[in-house]
Amino acid sequence: MLVNLNEVLVPARKHRYCVGAFNIFNLETVDAVYRAAVELKTPVIFAFGEKYIEVANIGIIATLVREFAGRTTLPTVLHLDHCKSVDVIYKAVRAGFTSVMFDGSRLPFSENLSRTKQVADFAHSVDVTVEAELGSVPFDHALSEIPEEYLTKVDEAVRFVEETGVDALAVAIGTAHGEYKGRPKIYHDRLKEIAGKVSLPLVLHGGSGVPDEDILQAVRAGIAKINVNTQISSAAVKRLKVLCAKEKPGHLSDLLREAEQAMVEEVKGFMRLFAGTN
Ligand code: 13P
Repeated sequence: MLVNLNEVLVPARKHRYCVGAFNIFNLETVDAVYRAAVELKTPVIFAFGEKYIEVANIGIIATLVREFAGRTTLPTVLHLDHCKSVDVIYKAVRAGFTSVMFDGSRLPFSENLSRTKQVADFAHSVDVTVEAELGSVPFDHALSEIPEEYLTKVDEAVRFVEETGVDALAVAIGTAHGEYKGRPKIYHDRLKEIAGKVSLPLVLHGGSGVPDEDILQAVRAGIAKINVNTQISSAAVKRLKVLCAKEKPGHLSDLLREAEQAMVEEVKGFMRLFAGTN
């Protein structure tokens, strides 16, 4: 059943669990996330990043996810991840996405605020939810300790949420996208301060490679959505590497089926962790 972010995240924040947002960009990734959700009977967010427009047609992805969502009663969100272009947001909404992330995190605060508000005004008029980001969750994977100036500022978060009307806020509290070199330093105190003043569902990007205890602590503090991409891809690539090292790796369809199975296992691991049941 296709829903927007509010339907899955508001109860998650209230009851202190979190819902996974898993990046998808083709049949195998969509099928893997769907199978994991159905096997564990959990709500799920299919996240299609703007950057994957280069490898997959956004309309076809929307049709695919909507087809899967129609086959289950589990709450299912079709979410546009990290989008800097308002044109792509319009395109996604036309294609049937139920939720979008406008990523203005690299813009000056006031510009991020005004452009996010424009997106939210439009999206809400068609019952589509909006996530925004404040502070910056870096994409360069080298750092395991993110400098404090990257982190979300508490007073800015309060003002941003009030003035934009967004539905969920991605916060920068020490995570980064991609692989970490060493253990990431998560700024739990900053998260607590933000969560004390912002009652919206909070979002953690860069879920791959974050130690379980940090995840659980963050969820208890108010993180209601965690995005995961790299670790799922790595699980599939690792499985493919083993198969391709054989003298006769076999038909591509068999390799893809194995890669998908590796992704199902990985996604299920995250789902169990997010529900606090691993
Ligand atoms: P990772 O690739 O680090 O898991 O981050 C995913 C993400 O935040 C997508 O928005």
